[in-house]
Amino acid sequence: MLEVKDLQKSFGKKEVLKGVNLTVQKGEIVGIIGPSGCGKSTLLKCINLLEKPDSGQVIFENDDLVDNKNLEIIRRKIGMVFQQFNLFENMTVLENITLAPVLLKMKKKEVAEKEALELLKKIDLEEKANQYPEELSGGQKQRVAIIRALMMNCEMILFDEPTSALDPEMIGEVTALMRKIAKEGMTMVIVSHEINFIRSFCTKVLFMADGVILEEGTSEEIFEHPKHPKLVNFLSKIKNI
Ligand SMILES: Nc1ncnc2c1ncn2[C@@H]1O[C@H](COP(=O)(O)OP(=O)(O)O)[C@@H](O)[C@H]1O
Ligand SMILES: [Mg+2]
Repeated sequence: MLEVKDLQKSFGKKEVLKGVNLTVQKGEIVGIIGPSGCGKSTLLKCINLLEKPDSGQVIFENDDLVDNKNLEIIRRKIGMVFQQFNLFENMTVLENITLAPVLLKMKKKEVAEKEALELLKKIDLEEKANQYPEELSGGQKQRVAIIRALMMNCEMILFDEPTSALDPEMIGEVTALMRKIAKEGMTMVIVSHEINFIRSFCTKVLFMADGVILEEGTSEEIFEHPKHPKLVNFLSKIKNI
């Protein structure tokens, strides 16, 4: 479904991505772990071209997204959920989740609103539809951000540390929603420091360091039988927290 080939990206003189290769099959739940600053966020942004790669390919369902004339159309199939939610504070919950599909003429306003209310009902936030993000808890905001991605009928969702900005008691409601969506067949790529979540949830785990993927495998391979010394070191630091 997604194939990233030799992706490179520098900011000024700083080489952040030094030739990243990865593949994601339909229905896979891929976790990406690695030290802060190693380029995980930059990688996700390059995958849906929020950042333009310097070189390499991002092939999504047979289309190379780099320099693609139809980028806007293809990109709609790849949703993104950010650590800081990125909701519009001056719009209600309902306006936030219906804005893009209506603006892009994917759905009529009434249809989008009906669908949005149904999705909000599923996550018990129907009564928040006409409230503003500031009236929501962090966990509620992040669940709204996930619903917003689903409203675009995306085929894959990229999550960049979706639970890092949350109080601990709210992490569970967000991971529960992610598990539910995965069960319904969504393909996901998740950057997270919630190691237990990654370990129990992901079908494949990638360890990123120094701008490349140093190791990849099943949860068991990565967490029980790590090979690369840098991965061993990274895991030992996490276990000591
Ligand atoms: N827009 C940018 N301009 C300049 N440097 C950036 C930019 N975005 C990220 N970087 C740098 O790239 C490196 C990787 O950042 P990032 O992808 O955010 O890492 P991670 O998500 O793994 O913590 C960091 O050194 C960061 O400072
Ligand atoms: Mg990051």
